[in-house]
Amino acid sequence: MRLENKIAIITGGGTGIGLSCARLFCQEGAKVVIFGRRKNRLEDAVREIGEHVLAVPGDITRNEDIRRLVETTINTYGRVDILVNNAGIFTGSPLHEMKDNDWDTALDTNMTSVFKLTRAVLPHMIRQKSGNIVHISSILGLVAVPNTAAYNVSKGALNQFSRSLAVEYGSLGIRSNAICPGLIATEMTEELMNDKDLMQEWSKNYPIGRFGQPEDVAQACLFLASEESSFVTGAILPVDGGYTAL
Ligand SMILES: NC(=O)c1ccc[n+]([C@@H]2O[C@H](COP(=O)([O-])OP(=O)(O)OC[C@H]3O[C@@H](n4cnc5c(N)ncnc54)[C@H](O)[C@@H]3O)[C@@H](O)[C@H]2O)c1
Repeated sequence: MRLENKIAIITGGGTGIGLSCARLFCQEGAKVVIFGRRKNRLEDAVREIGEHVLAVPGDITRNEDIRRLVETTINTYGRVDILVNNAGIFTGSPLHEMKDNDWDTALDTNMTSVFKLTRAVLPHMIRQKSGNIVHISSILGLVAVPNTAAYNVSKGALNQFSRSLAVEYGSLGIRSNAICPGLIATEMTEELMNDKDLMQEWSKNYPIGRFGQPEDVAQACLFLASEESSFVTGAILPVDGGYTAL
């Protein structure tokens, strides 16, 4: 078992990539706290995965909910070994039409809340003299595409945040890495992926010849969260079928 007795927090753990990480982490011996807005999706996940997963409903953009997530984890398990900052939203619109609120919501959810949760978890990792943080970023943090400026910026900032953590806390036994997925089949992309013509066009950008599945990202996340990657920190890992290599 690659994560035996490790305690992990996974935000957005009730669906998509986060749920896939939660499944895999539990299979590898971890106890996982999943956090997300929709109580019913979290409860479905607990029913499916079983006793080693604990659901904490909440909104990552609310300070009170972040505090409650960390407090519940510590009160239940006494420590936190792994934090997967996965919760995120995708927003799209031409830059000159973007509302203040669209910009603020993307940055708040995808970046500022990651800062706040990480800040709340770090004192426990410092006390433990070990910890492992994985950020689910995006290829759109590495390259830009039109009509997604707020998302591009939030994920680009997240990559740099991950590096900042790596250099600031490496000597304290805490690692930080970011994964940049390409197009992955989840609820976030469901509508887009139903557009067969568009998908035909986009598939040309994926040398490997397919789009990704949540499990593709979860496997990379498991590697970064486990001791197999003990010399890896500050890395930005594309999991994108070769999209960013083109
Ligand atoms: N699907 C893709 O193609 C793709 C590609 C690159 C990166 N990503 C990133 O992967 C991560 C997971 O996305 P996914 O594809 O699994 O989609 P998803 O919509 O299934 O998952 C996003 C999760 O984040 C949660 N979330 C969003 N806002 C929240 C908030 N304010 N408070 C608490 N939880 C909140 C949602 O409830 C959901 O569980 C996101 O950060 C996304 O940006 C996805």
